[in-house]
Amino acid sequence: MKTVINLSADDVLRLRTDLLTWYDRHARHLPWRRLPGDESIVDPYRVWLSEVMLQQTTVPHAAPYYEAFLKRWPTVHNLATAEDGEVMAAWAGLGYYSRARNLLKGARVIVDQYAGAFPDDEADLLKIPSFGPYTAAAVAAFAFDKPTNVVDGNIERIMSRIYAVDEPVPGSKPVLKAYAAQWVRADRASDWPQALMDLASSVCRPKSPKCPECPLSEGCRAHHLNHPENYPVRLSKTPKPHRYGVVFLIVSDEGFIVERRPDKGLLGGMLGLPHLDWRDEAWTDAESGNQLLIFSEAEFIGRYDHVFTHFRLTQDVWLQHLTATQMGDFLRRHNQYQCLSFSDKKTLPTVFSKALKFIPSLV
Ligand code: ADE
Repeated sequence: MKTVINLSADDVLRLRTDLLTWYDRHARHLPWRRLPGDESIVDPYRVWLSEVMLQQTTVPHAAPYYEAFLKRWPTVHNLATAEDGEVMAAWAGLGYYSRARNLLKGARVIVDQYAGAFPDDEADLLKIPSFGPYTAAAVAAFAFDKPTNVVDGNIERIMSRIYAVDEPVPGSKPVLKAYAAQWVRADRASDWPQALMDLASSVCRPKSPKCPECPLSEGCRAHHLNHPENYPVRLSKTPKPHRYGVVFLIVSDEGFIVERRPDKGLLGGMLGLPHLDWRDEAWTDAESGNQLLIFSEAEFIGRYDHVFTHFRLTQDVWLQHLTATQMGDFLRRHNQYQCLSFSDKKTLPTVFSKALKFIPSLV
């Protein structure tokens, strides 16, 4: 195999063609995708929905949510008139809930200001809530076949290896984006970023990349340096702060108590269990037990961990059984709460639904 270290424009063009030929054989069949050679129009709503779901979420985890969402709200018009609470409930378990709030805002703008027709221009898309530089480029490319520079973490990894970029991420992001731009062409504009994404998922993987199978390896500097897995260069991570909380499972035969969280902030607009503040120091049993002064027989039933982007959380779980009458009294006295039936437990975000696993009859 020829070794190409300094890529000329001709090398880029030839390697680009090689990767697209690889893609013709290896493209993943994904529900939101047009396959190579298929000239049909892709619904921009579907592309947008999939791209928003796929930010910080893997393809296998996002795919069932994507199908369920589309079934319930098949068009942007349907989504624009949806109830906020229902959209938040459908997002439960996907994480990063501000994505759902912004998606809904975006749907309403597309219907109100664009009569439901997505603009095909990247700069116009960027003005709509929920569109950032990545989403605008992705929708313009995948739905409208525009030669935009779509760059996600996977494409950054490929570029960091081809050019063996020694500057650590995130500082190197603008450089990686500039390298990626050199490969963008009008020819097969929509297939190109998807080919890169598929290469990143099956060949140019974060660990143990399969260079012998890679159509770009002859032009890849990190491969020639024999250490592709060293790229992208990362500074050593500072450990996440550890916080502690307590959640209360207040249950009757019908369901359990939840509250709607304020729109702003972490888990904004989602349902949640009543809980004590997430603080730097563990809560003592005496502190937790005293929060339920109205009930004397609440008990500690378990503890679990949950990892957010910026901190790790350990939560104690306390259980309180109520009769139907006590539940009615509780809801009358505390009108910020509602009783969620056990069959709707999937509408809770994971940081709270983990607590339900300590009640064996619910699992
Ligand atoms: N990750 C983000 N967008 C994607 C897409 N369109 N196909 C595969 N993986 C993705």
